[in-house]
Amino acid sequence: MKLDGKLAVITGAARGIGREIAIRFAKEGAAVVLVDVRIPAETEQVIQSFSPNVLSAVVDIADAEAVERLVQQVHAWKGPVDIVVNNAGIITREGILDLTPQQWRKVIDVNVNGTFYMCKAFLPDMVAKRCGKIVNVTSIAGKIGDITASPAYGTSKGAVNTFTRSLARQLAEYGITVNAVAPHAIETDMSAEWSEEKRRNVVASIPLKRMGTSGEVAAAVLFLASDEASFITGETLNVNGGYLMD
Ligand SMILES: NC(=O)c1ccc[n+]([C@@H]2O[C@H](COP(=O)([O-])OP(=O)(O)OC[C@H]3O[C@@H](n4cnc5c(N)ncnc54)[C@H](O)[C@@H]3O)[C@@H](O)[C@H]2O)c1
Repeated sequence: MKLDGKLAVITGAARGIGREIAIRFAKEGAAVVLVDVRIPAETEQVIQSFSPNVLSAVVDIADAEAVERLVQQVHAWKGPVDIVVNNAGIITREGILDLTPQQWRKVIDVNVNGTFYMCKAFLPDMVAKRCGKIVNVTSIAGKIGDITASPAYGTSKGAVNTFTRSLARQLAEYGITVNAVAPHAIETDMSAEWSEEKRRNVVASIPLKRMGTSGEVAAAVLFLASDEASFITGETLNVNGGYLMD
């Protein structure tokens, strides 16, 4: 199994892409920590059906002190962490003319600051072991902008793409790899908000002519978190049906 004996922390694991990542990791032998602001019992039970080693932690990643408490909880449960997947994210839809400073701060707090807090909190584990993997879930909006999401969202994801490359450079000497996946048009609760018209236009613009699945994003995250990707760092991998080829 690809993640046998590894301890992985996955944010936003209650549903959507994060839940699918947790399932894949559990199937591949990892002990998994599910981090989310609420975790339905059903999600926990599904993941436990693939692995006996599952810990649910209700944490708001935008709260630095709560993330510090998470580290203690995880250490008490199984010790130092091998893999962190920063998947939790929020979106708002207001255009720049309507976007308020509060809405801006909320998106940046979760998507950027939360990712930073999680990395800061678990990096000492990886530095001490001189190995580790960080995978961030960003978005195509972080590369090209998005007219249907608020500029706060694209800006937050662009920041995480740059954060990914900065950490990759600074942590290479410790044997830690830092990568990202940039999905587009994935069937989840987040994209369920789209109008029928937007969905039709999005699908028409994708060379593979369909939406993607959470499983297809999770497969890319699993690859980057596994030793099969041992010579890859600083990469942001598109999972977008060919929409953006950069
Ligand atoms: N669905 C898409 O088409 C798509 C496209 C590009 C990027 N993404 C990115 O993929 C990631 C997952 O998206 P999804 O579609 O599964 O979204 P989702 O809304 O279905 O799931 C996101 C999860 O993150 C959790 N979360 C939100 N704020 C949190 C916080 N402060 N602390 C802890 N957990 C928190 C939510 O409770 C939820 O369970 C996000 O980062 C999103 O930006 C999604």
